[in-house]
Amino acid sequence: MELDYINNEEYLDFYKENLPYIEKTMKSIYEIIKISGEDYSSFEDRNPVEHIKYRVKHPQSAREKLIKLEYEPTSDNAMKYLHDICGFRIICTFISDVEFIVKKIKEIEDVKIVVEKDYINKPKSNGYRSYHIIIMLPIEIDGNIKNIYVEAQIRTIAMDCWASLEHQLMYKKDIQNKELFKEELKKCADEMATTDLNLETIMSFIKNEGA
Ligand code: GTP
Ligand code: MG
Repeated sequence: MELDYINNEEYLDFYKENLPYIEKTMKSIYEIIKISGEDYSSFEDRNPVEHIKYRVKHPQSAREKLIKLEYEPTSDNAMKYLHDICGFRIICTFISDVEFIVKKIKEIEDVKIVVEKDYINKPKSNGYRSYHIIIMLPIEIDGNIKNIYVEAQIRTIAMDCWASLEHQLMYKKDIQNKELFKEELKKCADEMATTDLNLETIMSFIKNEGA
């Protein structure tokens, strides 16, 4: 894992003494997810985690969000009120792998589940699918403990593909016929969800044949 926010002036200027805790959180969550995937491969012969994306919220984006929420744009307020300073996107192969990873996250020692949003069983009206979970965990450095929030979005390759394309296409605000495109994108999301279910069935047939 490449993490070097500590040496980034912008991050250090804003997050200050909270930055080492943020980095430690990022590293431990990354390791837990990676090891969960590897453990699974030792008995299933495939890794449920395709890849892991991660980022620490950019200071400017943290400041803007705090101001919007009418808080002083300070590091401590960011740690307290913004739950997505530490962000992970975990891309899984199949829908059941998403469930597996969510379970592993909930089993993390001393973890507190803050918010869960199951946009897989309850997709957003635009078709967006993903499992979102915000957790809080105690992170210790030199005997001091801070509670750190982490936001994880767990989704399949197909869900991630759709979300990336939708973000690119709908980001441009001044699209003509936006409603029509929204409808078409929703259709794509639903078709991809059907494909995800079909792929799950195929995987499970192949697995049982091998048994
Ligand atoms: P934020 O203020 O953006 O954090 O939204 P929220 O607090 O309502 O949280 P939610 O869990 O709904 O969404 C958080 C994140 O999920 C966003 O920042 C996006 O990364 C992603 N997301 C949510 N909805 C969509 C969507 O419709 N399309 C895409 N591409 N991504 C989405
Ligand atoms: Mg959010």
